[in-house]
Amino acid sequence: MERYSKADAWNIIEEGFDPQKNKIAESLFSIGNGRMGQRANFEETYSGETLQGSYVAGIFYPDKTRVGWWKNGYPETFDKVINSINWIGLEIEIDGEVLDLHQCEVLNFNRTLNMQDGYLSRSFEAKLTSGKIVKVNSIRFCSIDQDEIAGLRYQIEAVNFSGKVKIISYLDGDVRNEDSNYETKFWDFVRDHDDQDTIFLQTRTLKTQFDLAIQASNKLFSNNTQLEVAGEVVRKEKFIAKHYELSIKQGEQISLEKIAAVVSSLNYNQEDLYAKSAQILTAATALGFEKLKQNQAEAWTHKWAEGDLIIEGDLLAQQGIRFSIFQLYQTYTGKDARLNIGPKGFTGEKYAGATYWDTEAYCLPFYLATSPVEVSRNLLVYRHNHLQKAIENAQTLGFTNGAALFPMVTMDGTESHNEWEITFEEIHRNGAIAFAIYNYVRYTGDEKYLTEFGLDVLLAIARFWKQRVNWSKDKNKFVMLGVTGPNEYENNVNNNWYTNRIALWCLDYTKKLLESLKVADLSSYEIICSKNSFEETELSDWQNIIDNLYFPEDKSLGIFLQQDGYLDKEDLTVSDLQKSERPINQNWSWDRILRSPFIKQADVLQGLYFFEEDYDQETLQRNYDYYEPKTVHESSLSPCIHSILAAKLKREDKAYEFYLRTARLDLDNYNNDTEDGLHITSMAGSWMSIIEGFAGMRVKNGKLNFTPFLPESWNAFSFKITFRESLLEVRISKNTFRIQNNSAHPLSVVINNHQQIVNGESEINYPLKEMLIKS
Ligand code: BGC
Repeated sequence: MERYSKADAWNIIEEGFDPQKNKIAESLFSIGNGRMGQRANFEETYSGETLQGSYVAGIFYPDKTRVGWWKNGYPETFDKVINSINWIGLEIEIDGEVLDLHQCEVLNFNRTLNMQDGYLSRSFEAKLTSGKIVKVNSIRFCSIDQDEIAGLRYQIEAVNFSGKVKIISYLDGDVRNEDSNYETKFWDFVRDHDDQDTIFLQTRTLKTQFDLAIQASNKLFSNNTQLEVAGEVVRKEKFIAKHYELSIKQGEQISLEKIAAVVSSLNYNQEDLYAKSAQILTAATALGFEKLKQNQAEAWTHKWAEGDLIIEGDLLAQQGIRFSIFQLYQTYTGKDARLNIGPKGFTGEKYAGATYWDTEAYCLPFYLATSPVEVSRNLLVYRHNHLQKAIENAQTLGFTNGAALFPMVTMDGTESHNEWEITFEEIHRNGAIAFAIYNYVRYTGDEKYLTEFGLDVLLAIARFWKQRVNWSKDKNKFVMLGVTGPNEYENNVNNNWYTNRIALWCLDYTKKLLESLKVADLSSYEIICSKNSFEETELSDWQNIIDNLYFPEDKSLGIFLQQDGYLDKEDLTVSDLQKSERPINQNWSWDRILRSPFIKQADVLQGLYFFEEDYDQETLQRNYDYYEPKTVHESSLSPCIHSILAAKLKREDKAYEFYLRTARLDLDNYNNDTEDGLHITSMAGSWMSIIEGFAGMRVKNGKLNFTPFLPESWNAFSFKITFRESLLEVRISKNTFRIQNNSAHPLSVVINNHQQIVNGESEINYPLKEMLIKS
């Protein structure tokens, strides 16, 4: 664990430049707007260690799969969102010497991510080998308001000299991915163009033929006066630049404002990209950099008004949770149902910017509560749009009759993960996709979604489970063989309790929905049946499985077994491991991990988290007490589930301890891997730990319920959520639970099992201790 930034409520601040930590900082200070993202690479040349990353959502390349031994059914490609045209690029020369922070003395370096207003700034002084000192201030953002616009301002001051400064502002499409399987560069040149002060570059991905075009304007200023300098155009392969040669006097500030319009064939015809980018850029430059920056701040004010979370009395926790919320909003805005949330968002190459079950199992609750309903609806529609491909994917594996297996990892619905034990076996993802539909309807009350989209997906998933089980004569039950549960430290197991549990739930939920729809709205029911060629006899097959599915459990211990034979393993807990052995995934052979009892992340407990209402407190407690000590939490998705369960079990210290493990995971580089990118999807888990854990928020029978507690070291915490069109502000302090209803209509809520009405535009305050005693 290392602290990279100063404690601050609204900013992430790095003081002093350490080249060893540059890649970590490049991840931490990433900016994005849901449509594109940019690692905190320097604008100017940097010859030290760096991972260049400019990403555009939905623009991906299917890299040919690389595996040791090919297995039938493997996807042909590993699809990845790729490093694309570098729009921030500048080269600065002072009297012929290139400014490169790896080659000169760096003084007073400061990098700040301003989360309140949504921009990244950097300032430093650089002493060049010539002894000349320049002072630099830069600022940049990806507009969350107009998501095809990004801008930067780069200001150079000559501290101790007068001389010549050359500024080269470029667009570079000759970029690569570090994780390219065959060292391929993924882009072809399409065209370029230059005008008075603009440059334009269009490139096309190999194979997928996505076109990306960026048009950038360059405006130069001396102190605050705009300069009319004609730049010289220089072209190289997939590269276009404007060179500006200027004189600079001691004490003078020269600045460049570069505004970029970023458009792609995802939204426009390839041949229209020049005109489109010109149109967008003209409108943006007419506003000017300062106004665009102001608009950015306003758009962020609006976002924070919907989803801020305030922790009083713990600045580090405050910074951690704001950072999480900021990164989640930067990654997904829900404007486009073709886009989704990569586990690392736009902050690195790991996990390829692709969609995992993380979205449904972890991220959805955050967007449900902190964004307009369309945002989470689009997350669901994303999967509905992929339904046909999920059916084809299942067909490839031998399933029939419209059964769907959604991919483990995907960009456009095509499976693109290639480790057989996960691609073919980690099928519980289908369950999370179904559960997300239930979760969405439970939270929003939008039942229409079911007839419009949801039931198509649920039905296809139910058909998959129906075919994925088989009858065991020996057990006289249905069993599910050869699966990998959420705990990826076990592969090819039989009867993973979690997978069986969620499969049974899917069958039951879908069956009940269809049966009640038939009664309530026959014509919609008939449409769904005919659209999906659904025969009612399928329902009795499902019921047979519901009644006879096998669940491994141990009656004497009173626990559900993670899978058949789990108790054959050595009965060890994490406390039996030496410190030097952890994390085991970096210190042990895979073979040893597979045989060990150690659990990567919540597995049985993931099921108890989803279906907590079906179990009494003692059952939850016995399973928690058995499994938690065996869990190494080597997935960032693990601690949050444990935190929420611990809170439910009134283990408040544990709940807080687990919360801490997620809350500053990247800010303090806990897992020593922040340089690969940020753990975006687990940031939603940090939010859930507070809202579902400490505040104990649940939706039951269409009402918000709370069973709150306050971590001992906090004075209070408060958060904003939207629930069914009511914007609410909840504050939990030592003695009081306050809920403020900022909308016109009254809302009924349940606090520690006591139903209360909060009238429109008013608040209620409850004495917390008293309530706890009563409840
Ligand atoms: C976890 C998966 C998760 C993936 C992406 C893996 O380490 O085991 O559950 O989907 O990371 O976050």
